[in-house]
Amino acid sequence: MTMKPIYVTQPSLPPLDEFIPYLHQIWQNKILTNNGPFHQKFEEELCDYLGVKHISLFTNGTLALVTALQALRITGEVITTPYSFVATAHSLLWNGIKPVFVDIDPDTLNLDSKKIEAAINPNTTAIMPVHCYGRPCDVDAIRRIADNYNLKVIYDAAHAFGVTVDGESVLNHGDLSILSFHATKVFNTFEGGAIVCADAKMKQRIDQLKNFGFVDEVTVVAPGINGKMSEINAAIGLLQLKHIGAALMRRKEIDSLYRSGLKQVKGITCLNDDAHIETNYSYFPILVQQDYSLSRDALYEKLKCNNIYARRYFYPLISDFPVYRGLPSSRPSELPVAQAVSQRVLCLPIYPGMSDSELFNVINVIAG
Ligand SMILES: Cc1ncc(COP(=O)(O)O)c(C=O)c1O
Repeated sequence: MTMKPIYVTQPSLPPLDEFIPYLHQIWQNKILTNNGPFHQKFEEELCDYLGVKHISLFTNGTLALVTALQALRITGEVITTPYSFVATAHSLLWNGIKPVFVDIDPDTLNLDSKKIEAAINPNTTAIMPVHCYGRPCDVDAIRRIADNYNLKVIYDAAHAFGVTVDGESVLNHGDLSILSFHATKVFNTFEGGAIVCADAKMKQRIDQLKNFGFVDEVTVVAPGINGKMSEINAAIGLLQLKHIGAALMRRKEIDSLYRSGLKQVKGITCLNDDAHIETNYSYFPILVQQDYSLSRDALYEKLKCNNIYARRYFYPLISDFPVYRGLPSSRPSELPVAQAVSQRVLCLPIYPGMSDSELFNVINVIAG
């Protein structure tokens, strides 16, 4: 039995001493929110780091998703994946949009681009795919379909901070991409999120929508929300950026130790690596196959008995929650891959502060 619990993740925090000068500065500025100096600097530095044109910071990823749909005036039906965190589909309901779930690809676990066209009808206005676990969707195929049917594409890139394909940010695909800086993410500002876009006018519209719809002191052009990131969160983000390189390196090491340690374990499979992709190692999902000695849930319980808290991301599927299961596209028979994966998946602990001995402990419990 491990003495210290090992959770699926542990938030990355910069040394507290380094944060104190930022606090002094905020106290001196007396600007706490509304596009203050830290907010502006963080947007600038994030654009540079991520290799994107424009960023609009938000209080969290969910409000960024809700606002992205409003910025593009999306209505009717939107095609999305059932294999995600529930906020993806919730953002559609918050806008009065009907989610249409399409099955996932068995290799990438992302929306299966081959199955999207069959779900398009005259009410379809957009596609909202998710780069699940930070592994890029089939962005080229999705672009082609969207162009053919004149649909918008909003990527839920909550997991995809810093992910590149052939050296280019995955966030540059689609009309808009959304990030989450929640405590559990690779890059956190405690709570936080962002919309990435390529066009200055679009950023201006998004900035208005996240500030109640204000254009100037006396003009409100839309029923915008309060989605503004505070100066404290922006300052933490600026400091986190200084440490993200080391955090990603350690995650990569853990990923590779898991892969070699689990290679020999019969019935445990990892997702494939792709040389074109620089991912962020945000999660370490395994699939517990039929020839493993235990069921997925029995392994989950066994790990728990050893003080190791893996998580079944994503089980249940979004389409199985009561608010969604009445939709025709939620029928399990329509989503066989997502159903099967959701019964087999287990995300193992991965975070920069994880020691080698903790990691080998996890491997040993799985190897039995
Ligand atoms: C895929 C996905 N979309 C959206 C969100 C929502 O982000 P937030 O928690 O920042 O609102 C999360 C995570 O929390 C997520 O994992």
